[in-house]
Amino acid sequence: MNIKDVSFKRERPDVCGDAHPKALLRAIQEDGDYLLKLASQHVVSSDQFSANTMLQLFRLAAKYEANPSRFSTSLQGKILISAFYEPSTRTRLSFESAWHRLGGDIMSITDRSTTGIAKGECLADVAEMFNNYGDCVVLRDNNETSLEEMIDSLRIPIINAGNGSDEHPTQALADLYALFKWRPELTTTEAQDSAVSIGIIGIPDKMRTVRSFIKSLCKFPDAVKELVIIHDESVAEQLFGREQREQIEQAGIRIRTAEDLDSVLPELDVVYINAISWEGETFNTYGKSFSLSAASPLKPDAIVLHPLARGAELDTDLDHTPHNWYFSQARGAVFLRMALLTCMVQRAERVIDVV
Ligand code: CP
Repeated sequence: MNIKDVSFKRERPDVCGDAHPKALLRAIQEDGDYLLKLASQHVVSSDQFSANTMLQLFRLAAKYEANPSRFSTSLQGKILISAFYEPSTRTRLSFESAWHRLGGDIMSITDRSTTGIAKGECLADVAEMFNNYGDCVVLRDNNETSLEEMIDSLRIPIINAGNGSDEHPTQALADLYALFKWRPELTTTEAQDSAVSIGIIGIPDKMRTVRSFIKSLCKFPDAVKELVIIHDESVAEQLFGREQREQIEQAGIRIRTAEDLDSVLPELDVVYINAISWEGETFNTYGKSFSLSAASPLKPDAIVLHPLARGAELDTDLDHTPHNWYFSQARGAVFLRMALLTCMVQRAERVIDVV
């Protein structure tokens, strides 16, 4: 490696998409009651969050993001159990970063074989022990049912940080936080006037991020002009699970499907792309024929969201364009998770009404 020049730039590349959180703070009126109610809840599914609860979480996240050094002790004296039994870059590190930034302590398990599970200990017993050691559990597990197996034994909150191909509710919160920072007017009663067309390159029935993102969007139907699912012909019959399509239609959101990406891109304001689906012990990649790059016919002001990790579907030449909101999405997840964690361990009263 050449060490002649080891200088680096501290500033983020200014051509990336991002927005100061102040506009979102102004758009949402504070109502702390929604945050206080989160203290006695686990986080299992995106279905459990009302639009108002999400808006208050986004407001608190924006408050943290606008003034990060103002709130460094909200979680002092609290311990997080971070249990990640499936690979993760963003979710684990952003949860742990969020907790550290608020002054809490962390115990981290990154391999279930280092626990009694390897000796046949049941998850209900592991959960019973967790009650004694920490104040909150964040769990990622490729097994969809692990959460259910633990929940009845837990007297501290647990957060689903991705369970197999089922759900990833805090990713969906981070996705909407990025979306609403981009267009704060979508959170208001005038949302219909600026509603956006959202394209999803992914399979709602197979991808937990897409599944949770759609569930959350269904709480903001006025913000969505239409949802366009872009897919390969081979998966046309597997796009939606039994209740998914019904949920979208009941929310009053128009759905369209398309098989030619480039012909539909010029109509989209937001493009959400994901290719990975966790299936059992491993993952599969879908939509290999679809990719986005700086040469894609995106609307000039369209944004691209991606939960990451990326593969060939997202060219790095998009990184240095204003379409790149996926880095903002990942960065904002820290503030969003700071907001959620504060509420779940009964510390919301320390930050509500504080400016
Ligand atoms: N978005 C997301 O879940 O990324 P990780 O798998 O890196 O946590």
